[in-house]
Amino acid sequence: MRSLSQLSAFCLAAASLVAANSSGGSACRTRNVDVAVVGGGASGAYAAVRLKEDYKKKVVLIEKEKRLGGHVAEYNDPVTGIRFEYGVSQFNDYGPARAFFQRLGVTPGAPRRNPLTQQFVDFKSGARVNYTAAAAADTAAAFQKFLAAVAPFEEYILPGYWDFPPPGRIPADLLLPFSQFVKKYDIYAAALTIFEVTGFGAGDWDHALTLYLLSTFPHPMIRAFVGNGTLFVPETQRNQDVYDAIQVHLKDEVLYNSTVEKSDRKPNGHTLWVRDSFGGGCTIIQAKKLILAIEPTPANMKPFELDAKEQGVFSKFKYMVVHVGLLTHPSLPLGGSLVNLPPAAANSYLALPKPTLIPRFDHLGLNATVFRSMVIGNGSLSVAQAQGQVTSSINALIAAGSLPSPGSGGIQFKAWSNHGYMHAHFSADDIRKGYIQKLYGLQGHRGTWWTGGAFSMQLQAVLWAFDDVLLDRMYG
Ligand SMILES: Cc1cc2nc3c(=O)[nH]c(=O)nc-3n(C[C@H](O)[C@H](O)[C@H](O)COP(=O)(O)OP(=O)(O)OC[C@H]3O[C@@H](n4cnc5c(N)ncnc54)[C@H](O)[C@@H]3O)c2cc1C
Ligand SMILES: *[C@@H]1O[C@H](CO)[C@@H](O)[C@H](O)[C@H]1NC(C)=O
Ligand SMILES: *[C@@H]1O[C@H](CO)[C@@H](O)[C@H](O)[C@H]1NC(C)=O
Ligand SMILES: *[C@@H]1O[C@H](CO)[C@@H](O)[C@H](O)[C@H]1NC(C)=O
Ligand SMILES: *[C@@H]1O[C@H](CO)[C@@H](O)[C@H](O)[C@H]1NC(C)=O
Ligand SMILES: *[C@@H]1O[C@H](CO)[C@@H](O)[C@H](O)[C@H]1NC(C)=O
Ligand SMILES: *[C@@H]1O[C@H](CO)[C@@H](O)[C@H](O)[C@H]1NC(C)=O
Repeated sequence: MRSLSQLSAFCLAAASLVAANSSGGSACRTRNVDVAVVGGGASGAYAAVRLKEDYKKKVVLIEKEKRLGGHVAEYNDPVTGIRFEYGVSQFNDYGPARAFFQRLGVTPGAPRRNPLTQQFVDFKSGARVNYTAAAAADTAAAFQKFLAAVAPFEEYILPGYWDFPPPGRIPADLLLPFSQFVKKYDIYAAALTIFEVTGFGAGDWDHALTLYLLSTFPHPMIRAFVGNGTLFVPETQRNQDVYDAIQVHLKDEVLYNSTVEKSDRKPNGHTLWVRDSFGGGCTIIQAKKLILAIEPTPANMKPFELDAKEQGVFSKFKYMVVHVGLLTHPSLPLGGSLVNLPPAAANSYLALPKPTLIPRFDHLGLNATVFRSMVIGNGSLSVAQAQGQVTSSINALIAAGSLPSPGSGGIQFKAWSNHGYMHAHFSADDIRKGYIQKLYGLQGHRGTWWTGGAFSMQLQAVLWAFDDVLLDRMYG
């Protein structure tokens, strides 16, 4: 915490910088807007378009990367020219998603599927696991039961927790660890698919609350699995097209390669000092309102100088860390998906690996030898640690004879993205103490509004629907 005298010294210095740089015409530009949005991923980019085009607001979007789109990731193989999508894979037909594609002029198409032959192996010992996958009909029936069991909660959690019940009235099922929920509703036959899709973003199911499992696998996703609701991508199969189209709609309203260095947030107006990481340029933004569309991690929040109320809420969050990489290795099976399960999975659908874990290695098809791998941790996880886990898993599989010896050549990482901290969650105790309501109590506090995964779910279409509610509350 900055002391008051330091703070006022900073404000004086900042004020003189504004004067010097705006009058002197040097590097620092100034910009006056109705709303500044920080973070041009799924939630921030969508909000900026609606603010500009529907609410007719002057807006600026501050994005640290050179493109919009957050977790979308693509790799263009320089040798074959083949493009691989290895971040966001699809969009759910939920809320405003289809209409938004239309507004952007992006034609939706069916996602290309790449059927793979599954093999069940333990990435720790490298041994094969004698897992008998549930029959397709049993899995379908389990998904129907799953949907029926969670149907009553949809109004509390989608597209956000605006109407989440107060402490004392929270349905007990939402705070059950998900493994207990699976038992209670006898939906074992859906467990493998849920694990494969969520990759354990919610964490180890013996601890992960059903509420947070649903935030990575929410109702629209479950409905897609029972054949009610579609999943789509741009017909080009290139997800970045969505965010590149947003870039065209927003034009000069986006500051790329930019982060907020310092801020002065006041209920009726904000000053943001924004630095461009490459050009070294700076922009001083005066904004009537502020939307923060980045994860509220301590590092991200530093320039925003949280007050005790904000700090008190965000310090309760725990996060998962997600990495996704593309790799080649001569031992990995073309057309295959190696699914990581512990030996006990031979006798139990709830025996699943614990973080830090790699859910599977999937061949990406496209006539290439590239495989996709996620690595999920429940604490900090560096690129070196994550890649080390990939390498040791493959070595264990070879040593145990589950994969053939490579002959010549070894692992090559083709692309890697560290998605960093995501899947923000509170403990069941904190939820019982009203932390979801405290989180939402931050909306509008200090003239600041919040969107993104920590306030809603990890699904783009749901975040867009969440933004619709948020903007309505800001300006409705
Ligand atoms: C591997 C993977 C696959 C996924 N697949 C799907 C899928 O198929 N379908 C789906 O709907 N969802 C998918 N998701 C989830 C989806 O991507 C997220 O839920 C969504 O992107 C979250 O949106 P957000 O706005 O909260 O954050 P983000 O999209 O992460 O946006 C945050 C943005 O802010 C920028 N930023 C960060 N810090 C700062 C800062 N300090 N200053 C300025 N800018 C900053 C980032 O560069 C980023 O652009 C996937 C996620 C991952 C990791
Ligand atoms: C303002 O301009 C001065 C002189 O060109 C420069 O040193 C300073 O870094 C600029 N201020 C900011 C905040 O960029
Ligand atoms: C952002 O930085 C990249 C370098 O990584 C550069 O190629 C790009 O032109 C920059 N974009 C803008 C808008 O400054
Ligand atoms: C694998 O499991 C099946 C069905 O449970 C069983 O019939 C078979 O004997 C097991 N095989 C081995 C090698 O354990
Ligand atoms: C499909 O889901 C919608 C909600 O999105 C619901 O209104 C409808 O009844 C469902 N249809 C079937 C056949 O279950
Ligand atoms: C893969 O190869 C087949 C046969 O050569 C070809 O028809 C197909 O277009 C190729 N696919 C890609 C994505 O290159
Ligand atoms: C991560 O998960 C493991 C196993 O589930 C657990 O032992 C460990 O305490 C967790 N770490 C954190 C930081 O939550």
